[in-house]
Amino acid sequence: MATALGRPVPAPWAEAVRAVPRDRFLPDRIWLRDGGGGYAPCDRTTQPACWAEAAFRDAPLVTQITEDDDGFQEPTSSASAPSTVLRMIEDAALTDGHRVLEIGTGTGFHAALLAHRLGSDHVVSVEVDPVLAEAARANLKAVGLTPAVITGDGALGHTAAAPYDRIIATCSVRSVPGAWLAQTPPGARLVVPWSTSWITYGTLVLTRRPDGTATGRFAGYGSYMVMRGLRAAADLDRDLLRAGQRPSRSRTTLSPWAVAGDSLDAQFAIGLRVPDVWYSWDTATDEAHTRLWLADDAAASWASVDYDGRQTGTYRVRQHGPRRLWDEVEAAHRRWVRAGAPEIARHGLTVTAEGQRIRLDKPSQPPSAPLTVSEGR
Ligand SMILES: C[S@@+](CC[C@H](N)C(=O)[O-])C[C@H]1O[C@@H](n2cnc3c(N)ncnc32)[C@H](O)[C@@H]1O
Repeated sequence: MATALGRPVPAPWAEAVRAVPRDRFLPDRIWLRDGGGGYAPCDRTTQPACWAEAAFRDAPLVTQITEDDDGFQEPTSSASAPSTVLRMIEDAALTDGHRVLEIGTGTGFHAALLAHRLGSDHVVSVEVDPVLAEAARANLKAVGLTPAVITGDGALGHTAAAPYDRIIATCSVRSVPGAWLAQTPPGARLVVPWSTSWITYGTLVLTRRPDGTATGRFAGYGSYMVMRGLRAAADLDRDLLRAGQRPSRSRTTLSPWAVAGDSLDAQFAIGLRVPDVWYSWDTATDEAHTRLWLADDAAASWASVDYDGRQTGTYRVRQHGPRRLWDEVEAAHRRWVRAGAPEIARHGLTVTAEGQRIRLDKPSQPPSAPLTVSEGR
C-alpha cells in the first residue's frame, strides 16, 4: 500500500490496516478478470491459493456480480483496492472525534478501518443491498467492530445520526445529493467518487461552506461503480437503432481514440462537457474495422465513428437524432485542447441549491478562480 501511495501509510492508519485483515471481509466466492472482457469465479474452498493471492493484492476485487439473459456480466459490489481506501481516508483529513458517514458499505472493510481508528460509535455506513449489508455487519462483528450499518439508499444519507463531520462515498455519483449537504455542518468534508455518462473516473473532494453550498476539486484517482439507480439501462439495438433511419454522413479528422481511448483526462473532459452521452466500442462490424458508438441517455440520438483499417487520417461519421453527438464531442475536445488539455486535477466543482458548476482553474491560480463554467444539475 505504501508503494502504491508513494509514501508510508500514516501511523494511526497503519495500525488500523494491521488490525483489520482484508481476507476476513471477502466472501468465499470472488470474481477475477477472465482475460476476455468478463469475470470468472474464484472460490476459497476449491482454489485457496488463487483466492488468497487475490485477497492480499492491492487491487479492487469484484465480490458480487449479476448476469443477464445474454450473459452480460455486471459487477454490483466490490472490495476497493486498499490503497484507494487509504487515499480517500487521507483526502477526508480525518482526526480524532470526527463522525463519519460512509455511503456503500460493500464488504465492510472500509468501515472497519474507520471504526478502528475513530471508534465504532463514530461511524455510520449505508448499503443499498440488504444481503451485502447483513454480510458486512457479520464481517465487522467478527473482528470486534460495531459501526451502524444501515440498509437504505445512500443518496438520502442517514438523518437519524446526522450531522457528520465527514462523508465518504464508495460508489460514484453524477451530482452531489442535497441530503449530504443538509447532513453536514460548515467545514465538513465530502469525498465523492465521480462519474459522467461518458466515464467513471476521479474523486471529488468538497468542503461544506456556511451558506449551505460546497466547493472543491477533483483528484485523479478512483473509478468506483455507479450508485444504484443511476446506471443507464439503454441498449443500442433494443432502444436506438431502427430500420429505415437515415443518419447524416460526414468525415472527421478527430480520432475516436482521442476521446474514448487511453487518456483519462480527455475522457473526463468530454464527460463534463457533453452531458448524458455514453459510448461503446465495437470491433465486430461488417462495415468497419473498428467502430465507436455514441448514444444519449434519453435514447433519442446516436452517432457512429468508423475506422476502416487504413491510415487515411479520416474517419466516417454517421449521426442520427435531435442531438449531433459527434459534433458535440468534437467541439468539447477542441475546447479542451485549446485550454491546454488540462488534467482532471485542474477541474473544480461548486454545488449550490440551484445545481452544480464546474470550474477550470489556471495552473498558477488558487483553486477558486473560475475560467469556464458549464453544466447544470
Ligand atoms: C465499491 S463497493 C463498496 C466498497 C466498500 N466500501 C468496501 O470497503 O468493501 C460500492 C457499494 O456501493 C453500494 N451502493 C450502490 N448504490 C448505493 C446506494 N444508492 N446507496 C448505498 N449503497 C449503494 C453497492 O451495493 C456496493 O456494495
